[in-house]
Amino acid sequence: MKLHVRPERAADRDSIWKLHAEAFPTCAEADLIDRLRHDGDAVISLVAIFDGNIAGHVLFSKMRSPGGFLGLAPVAVRAAYRRQGIADALIREGLARAKAQDWVGVFVLGGDSYKRFGFDPALAAGFRSPYSGPHLMVLPLRRERMNTRSGPAEYARALADL
Ligand SMILES: CC(C)(COP(=O)(O)OP(=O)(O)OC[C@H]1O[C@@H](n2cnc3c(N)ncnc32)[C@H](O)[C@@H]1OP(=O)(O)O)[C@@H](O)C(=O)NCCC(=O)NCCS
Repeated sequence: MKLHVRPERAADRDSIWKLHAEAFPTCAEADLIDRLRHDGDAVISLVAIFDGNIAGHVLFSKMRSPGGFLGLAPVAVRAAYRRQGIADALIREGLARAKAQDWVGVFVLGGDSYKRFGFDPALAAGFRSPYSGPHLMVLPLRRERMNTRSGPAEYARALADL
């Protein structure tokens, strides 16, 4: 069956919580998503439907600073569905929606696999963050509006508290 990525619906929320609780060692990421929604910081929340089931989920939340930027986290795919490009499809769809919504750029904290989407640690190097270093990366969506290259990079409160 074909993979389908769509925005989350209210009826998906329990499945999304369970998916993250199973994908990560603790319930912290699952609870984090509930809190980001509650705080009004969840901006783009997408599910991947495969074989009629929710196979994966990604969330993009509003950064406290710099203005106009989103943070990508968390992303998870159910173990049985991994290594088929589902996370890749979720992230690409999220980035396309972020660009269409006119966000300036997206931060992520992660490894080299994010570089294929265009995330660049060099572009994040000027930002001040507890996560500063090679794992903090930025993807510019609107290069012409990315005039902020320094200052604090602060994730939404729920993410920062994690
Ligand atoms: C990390 C995670 C989301 C990846 O999900 P996924 O759907 O397996 O990801 P993808 O299939 O898009 O890509 C995974 C790898 O499989 C490769 N891949 C993609 N399609 C493939 C295919 N058809 N055949 C073989 N490999 C493939 C990708 O190139 C990628 O390689 P990389 O790890 O070297 O970058 C998933 O493993 C997970 O939920 N882990 C637990 C939670 C977690 O750690 N989340 C990330 C931090 S927030």
